[in-house]
Amino acid sequence: MPRYQAPRGTRDLLPEERARLSRLEATAADLARRYGYPQIDTPLFEQTEVFERGVGAVTDIVEKELFRVSGGSGGEEERWALRPEATAGIVRAYIQHGMQTLAQPVRLSLVGEMFRYDRPQAGRYRQFRQWDVEAIGDAGPAIDAEILELAYRFYSDVGVMGVEAHLNSIGDRACRPAYVERLVDYFGKRESQLPGLERHRLRSNPLRLLDSKDPAMAGLIAAAPRITDHLCDACREHFDGLQAHLSALGLTFRLEPTLVRGLDYYTRTVFEFYVEGQHGQQDAVGSGGRYDGLVELLGGRPTPAIGFALGLDRVLLALADAGSTSTDARHPTAVVVGANPSDTATRLTVATQLRAAGLFVRAELASRKLSRQLEGAAREGSHFAIIVGDEFESGQVQLKDLQAGTQRLVNVADLARELERAEGSHRHGPAAGG
Ligand code: HAM
Repeated sequence: MPRYQAPRGTRDLLPEERARLSRLEATAADLARRYGYPQIDTPLFEQTEVFERGVGAVTDIVEKELFRVSGGSGGEEERWALRPEATAGIVRAYIQHGMQTLAQPVRLSLVGEMFRYDRPQAGRYRQFRQWDVEAIGDAGPAIDAEILELAYRFYSDVGVMGVEAHLNSIGDRACRPAYVERLVDYFGKRESQLPGLERHRLRSNPLRLLDSKDPAMAGLIAAAPRITDHLCDACREHFDGLQAHLSALGLTFRLEPTLVRGLDYYTRTVFEFYVEGQHGQQDAVGSGGRYDGLVELLGGRPTPAIGFALGLDRVLLALADAGSTSTDARHPTAVVVGANPSDTATRLTVATQLRAAGLFVRAELASRKLSRQLEGAAREGSHFAIIVGDEFESGQVQLKDLQAGTQRLVNVADLARELERAEGSHRHGPAAGG
């Protein structure tokens, strides 16, 4: 085993997978543009307080999973942490840059790395990538539907089939406290049946009891009071409105009255996306919800907002599970080889000119026999070899079709055009073969 390995919970994206990720990022960027959610970037780390206040001090993400960062010699007073998610940082930026004065809602998106010191397992990494989308300054429910539809659109555009949103409303400041009291009362009366961790939750974050994956909890959770039976009129109306909008858009969803989410900032709408048949918590390919109190909590004016983050690493896994491993990692169109092994300068010059003309061309830079150079080009999957030989003196090279086995003389001056044409007929012609 090599002495140095990528840290546990991280992984190297080798070119094929990196190319698949680039395709997801390109789809995200295209959708963000079409739906009017321009991209922003925020720092990879923030003051720890942004996450403590934003995500919530008594959440797994903050209690156990923050990567804390100390600066330099440790003389700095500030405490920082790598971002475990994007929403809190985006809201911090929204306030810092006075975006409240812009036309509302402010729609934003971000693609980037998140960090959680989680127990690594399949689909759960310590460094992972999210496509995050936020609409800040609109109370919904129409925008809630826009956001959900955008996520659905992404999954279908990248080819993840059978994605379903699990949907719930967890009420707001007006109705949730009374519901939580009921919940505490219900589970309190059954405390002796609760596993140790859940007893702790009963005191620290009772809503999360509904999220327990402990099999001992399943029966208790199923019989627990449901938040959707205890929504105030305004939250009820909002939730009904959202469902009506989703139906108008022809979107299917699954009502999941025990869905509560692991971040504290949510109000009303919450959702998680699953690929049909995969319901483990680490299988959510995306999730989000409304966070009407967060802007105020981080020091801004009260501002309603909603968003989602899709886990791009999990989307890659879902695509691999579905057997879709198409990749944009391309083979060079041509490799420039030469009869004189040591004349690397000419090969490099020819390749450089073709690349300047926009073509994907590699030069063979090893001083080896022509036959070996040609073998290398074929192994790389290149369609053509450009052979620099004696004819180069009179401004010509051989253009060899490695798949057809044919070759012809071409003027160097026409090479870019010829190659482009030949590549085009390769791709679209009858002999394309994929
Ligand atoms: P979250 O549910 O913590 O929500 O994460 C969103 C998505 O990121 C998950 O559904 C999953 O696909 C992916 N994800 C989370 N943790 C990991 C991990 N350890 N490894 C791989 N993928 C992971 C949020 O982050 C909220 N900020 C979403 C949001 C945006 N709510 C409103 N706006």
